[in-house]
Amino acid sequence: MIEEKKWKEIFNNIEDSDVPPTTEPERQYYYIEKVRQIVDRKKEELGRPLTYKTVTLGCQMNARDSEKLCGTLKAMGYEEAETEETADFVIYNTCTVRENANNKVYGRLGYLNGFKKKNPHMMIALCGCMMQEEKVVEKICRSYPFVDLIFGTHNIFKFAELTANVLEQQKMVVDIWDGTDQIVEKLPNERKFRFKSGVNIMFGCNNFCSYCIVPYVRGRERSRKPEEIIREIREFVADGVIEVMLLGQNVNSYGKNLEHPVSFAQLLTEIEKIDGLQRIRFMTSHPKDLSDELIEVMSKSKKICKHLHLPLQSGSSRILKIMNRHYDKEQYLTLVDKIRKAVPDIAITTDIIVGFPGETEEDFEETMDVVRRVRYDSAFTFIYSKRTGTPAADMENQVPETIVKRRFDRLLKEVQAIAAEKAEALTGQVQEVLVESINHQDSSLVTGRLSNNSVVHLPGDADLIGRIVPVRLEECRGFYYYGKEIR
Ligand code: 5AD
Ligand code: SF4
Repeated sequence: MIEEKKWKEIFNNIEDSDVPPTTEPERQYYYIEKVRQIVDRKKEELGRPLTYKTVTLGCQMNARDSEKLCGTLKAMGYEEAETEETADFVIYNTCTVRENANNKVYGRLGYLNGFKKKNPHMMIALCGCMMQEEKVVEKICRSYPFVDLIFGTHNIFKFAELTANVLEQQKMVVDIWDGTDQIVEKLPNERKFRFKSGVNIMFGCNNFCSYCIVPYVRGRERSRKPEEIIREIREFVADGVIEVMLLGQNVNSYGKNLEHPVSFAQLLTEIEKIDGLQRIRFMTSHPKDLSDELIEVMSKSKKICKHLHLPLQSGSSRILKIMNRHYDKEQYLTLVDKIRKAVPDIAITTDIIVGFPGETEEDFEETMDVVRRVRYDSAFTFIYSKRTGTPAADMENQVPETIVKRRFDRLLKEVQAIAAEKAEALTGQVQEVLVESINHQDSSLVTGRLSNNSVVHLPGDADLIGRIVPVRLEECRGFYYYGKEIR
């Protein structure tokens, strides 16, 4: 995290000229300061703080992006509001991976308009994957003209500059880029948790799975330099972080396009050496790129968590081919065997899509077969969602909704039954738990996670938050546990 002191220092060096620097991140520091001055004036006028609320939809990448937005907002002088309705600056960081995520945004916008009418200082910004779709931006400009700012995934680093533009121009600012090679380092960021953090290791995706919109909205694969990643993690650790989650759409192809190529396994080996860091997680792994070298590093590591998220998508080799996944059912099962041999107590989780165009009952049974054979510790199951612009959207043999729904229910039942059995098997064991928060329902309990990512509730108070403690798993409730700390 770059502290306020540090960016202030950098800003002071450029303050004399009123011409914005052309290099990043200096240019953004300049605009942060500019907005801060406007915000300070407004605060004085109103006699109250100005507040913000970010609303994050979608995946962990978006969650991490939102932390960066929050860092910039704080640096610009905004304070966090409890709710969107009372905030002076509302930012929706959107997702478009499935259709229902889009509908949520339109619903919220309509609702917020009423509050904006009552609070003339309220600004609304939209960013994230959904904004990379031309049709979406057209619709917002047409039907939601009260939105102040629209930007995309490639220029999120320009948030301060774009905010300054809105404040100066007092009209809607739209800035969407088609793509970028740029990775801007050292911008402010505000972690949600003191003791753990997501760390981007790469951006974008080159795989073009035929159902998926991500490569179109997040652009081509770009890896951060290993030294930047290590530097950031070291700074986090110095600031109290003990667990990192390395983030990328396909972490297994990390580093291939760097000037000096580095494999993901090599990166992990370097991260493992960071003193004070205790847990390393990563996601997402594409089965086609998961190397033996990585399995070996995982098997020897003391810090890499016993959890692998390995999206299957479908168990039918025929469908996998049309999905453009580059592995078949047998290869996937062989890979799982290999991983389990090397890391016997590893939890394996997955993503599965039901109702991909042309999926027959036989194809679906293949998926059920893989589910029964792998016995996932948990699985995210999705109904296929048609994304305009992807090859699958143009396929003629879309599966009728009623059939998909029935298959989905069958799959979910199977997945949940197996997950419950797998979780039950750990009952009675003592395992380490990283305590993350006070329990939302019962404040005499705290909630944390095992290395394998399962959730555990145990008696305790705020002092335990951010600590790794040994816990006996006393009772399993399907997919979470009640436990007791062993002292
Ligand atoms: N429909 C349904 N699920 C999808 N996913 C990606 N695209 C689609 C789609 N068009 C799922 C995949 C991916 C997860 C993040 O979202 O399972 O792994
Ligand atoms: Fe989408 Fe496939 Fe890339 Fe994952 S690997 S983001 S499913 S295109």
